[in-house]
Amino acid sequence: MPLASPHLRTDLDLTTRELVRLLDLAAHLKRDPAAFAHSLAGRYLSLLFEKPSLRTRFTFDLAIQQLGGGAVTQIGPIGDREPLADIARNLDRWTSAIVARVFSQDTIEELARWSRVPVVNALSDLYHPCQILADLQTIHERFGRWQGLKLAYIGDGNNIAHSLLLNAGRLGIHVAIACPATHAPLPAVTAAAEAAGVQFSITPDPRHAADGAHIVYTDVWASMGQEAEALARQQIFAPYQVNAPLLAAARPEAIFLHCLPAKRGQEVTADVIESPQSAVFDQAENRLHAQKALLVLLLEKPAHV
Ligand code: CP
Ligand code: NVA
Repeated sequence: MPLASPHLRTDLDLTTRELVRLLDLAAHLKRDPAAFAHSLAGRYLSLLFEKPSLRTRFTFDLAIQQLGGGAVTQIGPIGDREPLADIARNLDRWTSAIVARVFSQDTIEELARWSRVPVVNALSDLYHPCQILADLQTIHERFGRWQGLKLAYIGDGNNIAHSLLLNAGRLGIHVAIACPATHAPLPAVTAAAEAAGVQFSITPDPRHAADGAHIVYTDVWASMGQEAEALARQQIFAPYQVNAPLLAAARPEAIFLHCLPAKRGQEVTADVIESPQSAVFDQAENRLHAQKALLVLLLEKPAHV
């Protein structure tokens, strides 16, 4: 059955039922990487990157190739030479989907407004839905469930925090965010999380958030595009470092997650990210499987075609 939304602009474009279906398929594709090997045969995707990427770029490119398709990648500003409306209406004539990593969520919205083919948010200032798909796959591998788990997100109330709230929260994970009051998730996102029935809490106290958590998650203190603020942010976020004492406040079986790239010695200490509790490379691997599942579901042809 086709997905309810033709696009993945934000996490909420997938219904909760579709999210679970996608994650089931991701697990299947991990067990059987050759499955769906021809589902994109003869089809090509546009990959646009305004910001650097290792994981997202490689895993989309590989996912498309493993599904039998091809991709054309452009790195650099989107919309400087011509209007986004024109870019979307060129790319949708040649390719079957537009995957875009952008500075502003508005760029994703505008591409989706004009494109006749699916637009996938590969990270914006507000959301990183593809990352959270892999995170949820990793969590299920480790705990066999999502319902009833506590995830402590420690640090900046950024794109990762937003997508965790919306996606992890919808699967019954309690999301406990510890952040400075000045860098909390946007009210519009917490309102959307509330409307989606998500159980979450926001506190300035990292210990309180980590207490009894099954998952401790952090991200960089200065996201891409915030490099000029990096020094000031190191001061602001210093109390939010995930280190061994903070991880010890979580459950003994807790796992550590980080979307990567990580800055060791800032948001996480080297001993934590290299510890047996760290699942960051499973997370990175699962970007591939989860995005293959996303592309299969997003681009599957209706039965009558
Ligand atoms: N986690 C993530 O999106 O990594 P990249 O920035 O390398 O794509
Ligand atoms: N918050 C980070 C995530 C990187 C994957 C950023 O936007 O740079």
